[in-house]
Amino acid sequence: MPMHMQFGRTTLSKFVIEQTRGQHSELGALIIDVAAAVKTIASMVAKGALAGHHGALDTTNIQGEVQKKLDVLTNEAIIHHCEWGGQLAGMASEEMDDPYPIPAQYPLGRYLLIFDPLDGSSNSDVNVSVGTIFSVFARAEAGAAELSDYLRPGSEQLAAGYAIYGPSTMMVLTLGKGTHGFTLDRETGNFILTHPDITVPEDTREFAINTSNERFWEPPVQRYVAECKAGKTGVRGADFNMRWIASMVAEIHRILLRGGIFMYPKDNKDPSKPGRLRLLYEASPMAMLMEQAGGSASTGRGRILDVSPDELHQRVPVIIGSKNEVERVERYHREYADGSDRPFESPLFSERSLYRE
Ligand code: F6P
Repeated sequence: MPMHMQFGRTTLSKFVIEQTRGQHSELGALIIDVAAAVKTIASMVAKGALAGHHGALDTTNIQGEVQKKLDVLTNEAIIHHCEWGGQLAGMASEEMDDPYPIPAQYPLGRYLLIFDPLDGSSNSDVNVSVGTIFSVFARAEAGAAELSDYLRPGSEQLAAGYAIYGPSTMMVLTLGKGTHGFTLDRETGNFILTHPDITVPEDTREFAINTSNERFWEPPVQRYVAECKAGKTGVRGADFNMRWIASMVAEIHRILLRGGIFMYPKDNKDPSKPGRLRLLYEASPMAMLMEQAGGSASTGRGRILDVSPDELHQRVPVIIGSKNEVERVERYHREYADGSDRPFESPLFSERSLYRE
């Protein structure tokens, strides 16, 4: 592109400074630091096997998942890019058991940064898109964060976003006024606003779920997926397409840009876990981005953004994407709970019967 045509473009820095001027100008500075970390991670991920970063370590994170070298390196990249600026009261990450206190040599601010440094990291060894997810809350005043400061419903987030490391690197961001996408121009090193005001189509004919778990799902999700698979011959009267990348960032990105529904629902595979995905650094930020783009995000039984966490690494069921499909899945949960999806069955066996309450 000729140099003069680049001058009119909106960079991420300009965008966040303009959107946060006044009450939250420090938030703008924090997002710019996150973007710097994202550029470092993009370059690490892009080097692939040449950098020797592929493969696993012999450590596990608090979820018992084996950590990849890149999980640890990307976690460090975000810490080092963001801890010094004086905006943060603390940080929490998927890769750290406990919140990270800001080192004593740096000033404290009022914001909390919560992140998954490399979501879908098992995909990095096989050169499939991965991402970074982040979320920002604020304390009433500057000071060292306590655990309780992090345990807040997603509706209190001030900002949320992700970076996707795919054929191009993009950052998708909300500061509570719409969802906007920026593409990294590798020649200038700037993120450029390329996808302003992303709007998710309300209807879709595309669903994403790991169907190998089908036998563990609850009946409302089994019903929804069975109807999608029945296609034109079933009650939906239309054929559906299925996608599963096993990288939440890549699935959400596809859905933001062309519609769809993504589900990691409650299942009984491991009854101690209410879902697979983590509330604070996966579900809540994606829910905010989706709602700000006109989509919906639910547990099946309520809005994800209304879930108050009891612990940092809490899991939650996730049903997210095009509004009308998410609402349909929620309705199936209600109809299952009140038994109206099986009118010929004895009320004794419905979820609200004598036996189940
Ligand atoms: O930990 C999160 C994650 O990697 C998501 O990015 C992805 O959607 C999901 O797990 C993949 O799960 P599964 O291994 O069941 O396909």
